[in-house]
Amino acid sequence: MYRSILKLYYACTAPIAIYFILNSKTIHPAYKLSFFRKFSLGFKMFLNKFRIPTGTSYKSHLAMGLKILETPPEIVGDVVECGSWRGGSSANLSMICKLTNRKLLIFDSFEGLPASEDADRQGVYNEGDFCGSLEDVKANIERYGEIECCEFVKGWFNETLPNLNTPVLLAFLDVDLELSLETCVRYIWPNLIEKGYIFIDEYVGLDYCAIFWSEEYWRRYFDRTPPGLMGAGVGLPLGEYYIGPWEEKENHPLQHPNAGAYTRKDFSGSWIHFPESEQANS
Ligand SMILES: C[S@@+](CC[C@H](N)C(=O)[O-])C[C@H]1O[C@@H](n2cnc3c(N)ncnc32)[C@H](O)[C@@H]1O
Repeated sequence: MYRSILKLYYACTAPIAIYFILNSKTIHPAYKLSFFRKFSLGFKMFLNKFRIPTGTSYKSHLAMGLKILETPPEIVGDVVECGSWRGGSSANLSMICKLTNRKLLIFDSFEGLPASEDADRQGVYNEGDFCGSLEDVKANIERYGEIECCEFVKGWFNETLPNLNTPVLLAFLDVDLELSLETCVRYIWPNLIEKGYIFIDEYVGLDYCAIFWSEEYWRRYFDRTPPGLMGAGVGLPLGEYYIGPWEEKENHPLQHPNAGAYTRKDFSGSWIHFPESEQANS
């Protein structure tokens, strides 16, 4: 019953979500996104959720779309997706890329998840989970997205991402495992443009989100403060009823996280006040 209520809620609120998320004063005029085109784009993205088995919400795809549409066309940068499964999020991102004349680089093993290691606290996945073959992903994008702007990079992230050497406007990392996330961040961050974005999916996992807040990680690998994460723990507030934490979700069957979280290269989320040492120094 709860599933049906949720489905009804998402169907009824789709026009409102599309209108609210894509309502922006800074979508670049070059993309000629009239009210009607915005709605038709959002509706196609919503429908793709039912056409292709997809691990993420069309609302998070719309949120990424918004950031790409707000970026002027003269700012150079590709869109990168790490983790495509059957190509649901790729199809939606490809439509945004077509509209904005950008390339979508899709990185995946196309063999599913690697074996998780002890250091990976997500721990609930098996090797090979979320396997979508390259042929399957291509067929889904051909049918429901825009294949001509896509490039596919098959292989394990630690073997393929070190070769990434083009400027990146936005990267979507939907990779489930902490170690996969770390590999993606380490190799993509240096390629991100000045105000480039990283969106993630596993935003309900506080340990997972912690990479974006870890002062030690960012000092050690990038010599800077952590960038922080918008939406850590519960996701972006895109018309959702979700309070968290994830471990208690069974207690609130109508609360469902359905958003995303992101950071940007110029963001900083660091703490500088340590009263005892400030007093000692004064
Ligand atoms: C949850 S699925 C992606 C779901 C997809 N974004 C969607 O919205 O439907 C996770 C994907 O990450 C890929 N993946 C995870 N870790 C990887 C790694 N280290 N190397 C290559 N692919 C990896 C898996 O093959 C899988 O396709």
